[in-house]
Amino acid sequence: MENNNKISVVVVAAGSGRRYGGNLPKQFLPLDNKIILCRTIDAFREALPGANILLVLSSNDLDFWEKLCSDNNYISPQIVVGGDTRGASVRNALSNIDSNQTEYILIHDGARPLVNKELILRVVDRLRKGAKAVVPVLDLTDSIMEKFGTALLPRNRSDYKLVQTPQGFNSFIIKFAYANFIGNLTATDDATMAAKIPNLDVIGVEGDKHNIKITHPGDIKLAEFYLECSH
Ligand code: CTP
Ligand code: MG
Repeated sequence: MENNNKISVVVVAAGSGRRYGGNLPKQFLPLDNKIILCRTIDAFREALPGANILLVLSSNDLDFWEKLCSDNNYISPQIVVGGDTRGASVRNALSNIDSNQTEYILIHDGARPLVNKELILRVVDRLRKGAKAVVPVLDLTDSIMEKFGTALLPRNRSDYKLVQTPQGFNSFIIKFAYANFIGNLTATDDATMAAKIPNLDVIGVEGDKHNIKITHPGDIKLAEFYLECSH
């Protein structure tokens, strides 16, 4: 069995879920009787036993999470306080990781609870084979156009991929990217930051169409359906 103690996993869950709405950020809602964020964390605990998991939470949610854990007898990973954007949340987590102790860093959206072991291991396997930045990707099924002001220009669908998490990185690379390109923390994923490093190849591995990000109302129902399919 592979040794995972040089792997750190950052689970970002400091968002407020504006698009999902409701009183409670979506990552704390139940999905088939289990809290979304606990499902996400447990997927990594099962796929990568011994890996170091960092959970990024908003300072607003710390008390809520502590109570949730004690009520459910759930052991929390180490917590890092997040920032105003996803990028700022990731940056805070990375500053808690020592690249001399950590070879690979996986970064995953807390709001993707259906991430499975096979996908996690595909990403890690590619890192172990030498890739510096790995992203799970899917082909588009709809057509795609680019916006130019009010006009739309057709684009070739096969030139594009949809990008998911977990994204995996050599630890020096991703820490370097976040330390040096802090002007742009509006990126919605981490390979976008890594890709700012000249000559760095971002490698794609097959994503999973069930690995949805809970984003809009109705997505939990869809995730429930996918869960049923996998039983
Ligand atoms: N995230 C974070 N810190 C932020 C913003 C987002 O850690 N300041 C996390 C979210 O908790 C989520 C992941 O990044 O797990 C993907 O973000 P998204 O789906 O956009 O979640 P929210 O930002 O919470 O939702 P919205 O954009 O609708 O407000
Ligand atoms: Mg967001």
